[in-house]
Amino acid sequence: MGLLDCRCLLLALLQLPALLRLDAAAAAAAFGWAPEPDQLFQIPEGWSCLGRVAASEALSLTFALRQQNVGRLEELVQRVSSPDSPEYGRFLSLAEVQALVAPSPQTLNAVRKWLEAHGIWDCTDVGTKDFLQCQVPAGTAEQLLPGAQFQRYVNGERSVVRSPFAYTLAEELAEHLDFVGGLHRFPAERKAVSRAWTAGKALLSTFHLGVTPAVIRQRYNLTDKDVGSSLQQQPADLAEFMGLFGKSFPHHLRVDQVVGHQGWGKAGLEASLDVEYIMSSGANISTWVFSNGGRHESQEPFLQWLLVLSNMSALPWVHTVSYGDDEDSLSRAYMERVNVEFMKAAARGMSILFASGDSGAGCRSVHGGKHTFRPSFPASSPYVTTVGGTSFQHPFLVSAEVTDSISGGGFSNVFPMPKYQTTAVKRFLSTTSKLPPSSYYNKTGRAYPDLAALSDNYWVVSNRIPMPWVSGTSASTPVVGGIIALINDRRLQRGQSPLGFLNPALYRLQEKGNSTALYDVTTGCHYSCLDETVQGQGFCAAPSWDPVTGWGTPNYPELLSALLG
Ligand SMILES: *[C@@H]1O[C@H](CO)[C@@H](O)[C@H](O)[C@H]1NC(C)=O
Ligand SMILES: *[C@@H]1O[C@H](CO)[C@@H](O)[C@H](O)[C@H]1NC(C)=O
Ligand SMILES: *[C@@H]1O[C@H](CO)[C@@H](O)[C@H](O)[C@H]1NC(C)=O
Ligand SMILES: *[C@@H]1O[C@H](CO)[C@@H](O)[C@H](O)[C@H]1NC(C)=O
Ligand SMILES: *[C@@H]1O[C@H](CO)[C@@H](O)[C@H](O)[C@H]1NC(C)=O
Repeated sequence: MGLLDCRCLLLALLQLPALLRLDAAAAAAAFGWAPEPDQLFQIPEGWSCLGRVAASEALSLTFALRQQNVGRLEELVQRVSSPDSPEYGRFLSLAEVQALVAPSPQTLNAVRKWLEAHGIWDCTDVGTKDFLQCQVPAGTAEQLLPGAQFQRYVNGERSVVRSPFAYTLAEELAEHLDFVGGLHRFPAERKAVSRAWTAGKALLSTFHLGVTPAVIRQRYNLTDKDVGSSLQQQPADLAEFMGLFGKSFPHHLRVDQVVGHQGWGKAGLEASLDVEYIMSSGANISTWVFSNGGRHESQEPFLQWLLVLSNMSALPWVHTVSYGDDEDSLSRAYMERVNVEFMKAAARGMSILFASGDSGAGCRSVHGGKHTFRPSFPASSPYVTTVGGTSFQHPFLVSAEVTDSISGGGFSNVFPMPKYQTTAVKRFLSTTSKLPPSSYYNKTGRAYPDLAALSDNYWVVSNRIPMPWVSGTSASTPVVGGIIALINDRRLQRGQSPLGFLNPALYRLQEKGNSTALYDVTTGCHYSCLDETVQGQGFCAAPSWDPVTGWGTPNYPELLSALLG
């Protein structure tokens, strides 16, 4: 029935992009050191190449400078995020994070001298001094980064400059730089899907016609009093959405602050979804939108957001992000560094939530026609909270939740399993009878998601038009973000710290075994490779934690009282 239609629609959207492994080994042999030899260059569907850019064309490049004391940062995050530590909640300011991780004077000097020797002066840094963003003419950039060759790619009105060839750096810089951003990675496509299928039958009045804020609030036990005290998204859409769907609870009609460029063109469906739902579960909580649309090329919007995190001392406590790429398409240097950026945010008390992805366990072809599952990053970072997706068991009733078969989940091939989850994950692996063959996943890796929420059949207002049947973990993530923001609000009112990085507290709470803070989702499987061995099936939900829906979905009053401590 309906579910099959969705599956076809989603599979149709998963067409393979053009792939090209950068020939970094050859480039390095010719010129020096390649920081990202494993970075895949892929032209996503919809983009085409217009050819090489003029030497005078200005590019924006981001230099990730080698940090100090990353090991100490990691230990500190552990202490400030673990409820049984005496330092729980004793977060650092941006200045304190800078004092810990800022690059050494030797690194700062070496990088600056190198740039200046190429006539590059137009650079800005961030509060923690570990990124430099510079405007560089393409011709100069090609001399600075031997091997790189800059070409323009367009997709509709969007346009970026990228190098399909690997860049190298002089050997002397190997100890000073992690990677250079703005060369290979394309802006990730945002994938909110409107599943257009119609409900055939006449509906009873107790039925709901799709997920609205009222449905979310009912399912997760938020009363009209559970509100806060204290993007490319068009303000008109949010007001209209709240006018249509937000009648019974106090809420803001506008986003309070936009960081970056606020374009006024067509709002993305996805941006509308994020803001409308974070502001309905996190009702009356001040909401900011980080926007990177607009101006010619924002080279790497995700990187830009990371830079903002390191450059503003006062930021929202909760961030929800729906960006994700296949782990195997990204360089290890890039992922390791982004992971450190999440540690820096955790040290400051921020809760960073990522959508787990909309491709189930994913699928990747490896040698000999074999397949493996395909983890997604940053969902697989051990320093973020990853949110999966569920559906109502009865599609039109506020009822128990089951797995949404698109819910991203699995095991990282890059990040080892963090301590906070080993008991839970090992229990899953040892008690589940029908696991996929072990060649499909890496049971030593960071397992995700951590929790879940409804991801199916949302109403969204976009460009002033209400759209039904919008689905994806980019819907469930802001819902959980809003709930965490409400809990932070209560904690702050009581003079407590914000929650910060959630996972240690979340796993500890759930491992007690008698927690009612989350509804355990125990039925349904997500999908994976359509081959003979697994036949489209990835992992299946099970009692307690599982790599499909994590610990389950929020029951607000119980989660609140557990996390108020
Ligand atoms: C960081 O913030 C300062 C002002 O506070 C600004 O001048 C600078 O351009 C910002 N850096 C980046 C990389 O955006
Ligand atoms: C939350 O809602 C469910 C039904 O949706 C109900 O069974 C439960 O008692 C409610 N309250 C709490 C505190 O769990
Ligand atoms: C909503 O937030 C505002 C501050 O932004 C506060 O003055 C107001 O009391 C809040 N409303 C409720 C119902 O708590
Ligand atoms: C499995 O994950 C670990 C990290 O937990 C990693 O070191 C190892 O290389 C991974 N194996 C494969 C085959 O990717
Ligand atoms: C759950 O169990 C712990 C001990 O493992 C106990 O301290 C706590 O009071 C119990 N909570 C509830 C709600 O029963």
